[in-house]
Parts: sequence; structure tokens; C-alpha cells
Amino acid sequence: MDRLGGQLGRLCDVVGVDPAAPVELLSGILGEHGSRPLSAPPAWPSGVADDHTPVEFSLAYNETEPPALRILAEVLAPVPGVAENMAATYEFLHRHARRYGLSTTRLDKVRDLFTVDRPQGGFGIWISLVFRAGRRPEFKVYLNPEVAGVENAPELVETALLRLGLDSAYGSMLSRTIRPGELGRLDRLTFFALDLHEGPQARVKLYLSHHDAGPDDVARAAAVVDGVDPAEVADFCSRSGRTARFDGRPLVGSYTIVEGSDHPAGYSIYVPIRDYVDDDQGARGRVLPLLGRYRFDPAVLDRAIAAVSDRRLTGGVGLLAHVSLRLGPPRPGMTVYLSSEAYRVTPPRTLSVPA
Ligand code: TRP
Repeated sequence: MDRLGGQLGRLCDVVGVDPAAPVELLSGILGEHGSRPLSAPPAWPSGVADDHTPVEFSLAYNETEPPALRILAEVLAPVPGVAENMAATYEFLHRHARRYGLSTTRLDKVRDLFTVDRPQGGFGIWISLVFRAGRRPEFKVYLNPEVAGVENAPELVETALLRLGLDSAYGSMLSRTIRPGELGRLDRLTFFALDLHEGPQARVKLYLSHHDAGPDDVARAAAVVDGVDPAEVADFCSRSGRTARFDGRPLVGSYTIVEGSDHPAGYSIYVPIRDYVDDDQGARGRVLPLLGRYRFDPAVLDRAIAAVSDRRLTGGVGLLAHVSLRLGPPRPGMTVYLSSEAYRVTPPRTLSVPA
């Protein structure tokens, strides 16, 4: 907790957010594991970050307001396990519902679908918290569509969307998004995400991971969303990844689905930049020009990096974990994901790709 709390407090300073609520929420997420020494192995092999830290930070730039600070986290049960962590997450949300004005109406409609006797995959539910200056934190949940087995994921998602009254575009969208025959193989349903607030802006986001894909594949996936320029998505992947095949960690795309429309309203692409650079210096060197392209202030990123780490950027890889581009409402922009590296720094290496 000391390391994560320190990082979070300093990140709050960078974006002008009062650290009191964020730090308290972080402590609730870690539960009694917050007092574990970092020299002990992780209490649970969380997939949130490469070194199993159950928390990942991100800095979300957008066009209309100052950057927001976010955390992605897995709530850990006292004795962690997939089902146990799920139960602890629901309890955590329940505990904070009133104070933060959370609405679980939509989550309650689908929750049972994701609650199975023998959960598969490494997680059942993750959460994210978004902190913006002067506002209450916003909460989101990420459910695992493959929790009842990879082969059952498409139907599970379809049922969940139906229950939320959002089914109409799903089937045709999916068939145009994935590569033929690859659903459940190279193209995987990764997260089914819900905003925990009411209102016309409340979203469902469906995430697909495209293993061994190229910028052209995600351009095709993005093309199903009106108003999104597929070439822009492909270009973002090429500039951040500098490879024709993302054969390390996969490219991930997400579709934003809002009520009252049978077409997705937005698309985001997430590039796991850490697998395509030698070190974090290289990652920063690619992210800064992208920020410049979208007219975002690079100095904020450098302050955020300094808030989480004082190591040399050439001394490891993965501090900058992902970089993403959000297209369409509610807030187009770019997000840079920052690892805590609480347990481990991945050593730098030399890839046979251009710097
Ligand atoms: N660590 C996981 C991964 O890299 C999950 C994850 C964390 C993730 N942050 C993310 C996935 C941002 C996509 C985008 O896949």
C-alpha cells in the first residue's frame, strides 16, 4: 500500500485531484493485502499487470477537459481466488454505492451470467475508477466473457446484451469484426464492461483481443463503427508498435454501445506497446509524438511517469504498458497506461525491430 499509495497520491497532484478519496478506495481494493511486504510474493497472480500488481494506473487525455487519472484493479479477497475475488468486488461496490452514487441496475441484470461454479480464465471481474478534478469518482466493471469457457463466450455476451436491451447489432458486428473462423482462437472476447452510473451516457463496452494481428486487421474491426476512420486506427498501431504483425501481446479493440442505437457509438484501440519496444525510453519516444499529433500536453505524461517511478527509463520495459486511442463519444482522446512495478521491473532487451 505504501508504494501504490505514494504513486497514487503523486499522480493525483499531477492531475489536480484531491488524493483523499482515491487513496481510501485503493486501500479498500487491496484489503488486508495492503500491509503485505513487497518482498513477499504477490498474494494473487493478478493479470492486471505483468508483475501481478493488482492495480494499473492510466492517464486519460481528452479533448474537452484536463486529463483524468484512472486505476484498473482487481479487488482481492482475504483468501484470493477467482470466485472469491468476484465476491469481494461485489462487496466493495456495495460498500461504496451510496457514497459515490453508483447504479448497479444493469450489472444486476447480467451478474448471474458471469457467476459460474468453476470460473475459467484468470479473473471474473475487474474494476476501474476514474478521477477527475472536482468530481466524484466514476466506477466501471470489466466482466470476463470467457468465465464459463471460451466456447461459451459469444452466447454469454449475446444473452447479456439482450438482457440490457442492446442486442440488435451484435451478431452482424461480430462477424465483420473478427477474422473468419477465429472467434475464440486468435480473436477473443476479452471484457464485457459496464459503467456503474445511470443516464444516457451509461455505456456497455465490448473488448476483443486480436492475437497475431496487423494494423489492417484492426482497421477492418474499426470500420464497423460509423464515423471512425479505419486508417487512423491502423496508423496509430503502426506508429506505436512499428510492426506489421503484433505477435507478442495482442492488439485490443473495444466497441462502445449505448442505449437507443443499434450501432456502436465509438471504438478504441489499445496497443500493448511494452512488447514492441526495447525499453521505456523507446516507448516514451513513440508516445510523445502521438500526443503531439493529437495536441495533448506531453509534459503531463512526464510528470505522471515521475510520479510512479524514479528509475531510468532505459532500465526496464513495461512502465508504459499500453497506449490507446479513443474515437467517438463520450470523450475522444488518448490514454497512457502506467505500471506500478510494485513487484518487478521487466529488464530491457533488444528486439530486432526499429527503435
Ligand atoms: N495486463 C492485461 C493485458 O495487458 C490486462 C490489461 C491491463 C489491459 N490494462 C489493459 C488490456 C489495457 C487492454 C488494455 O492484457
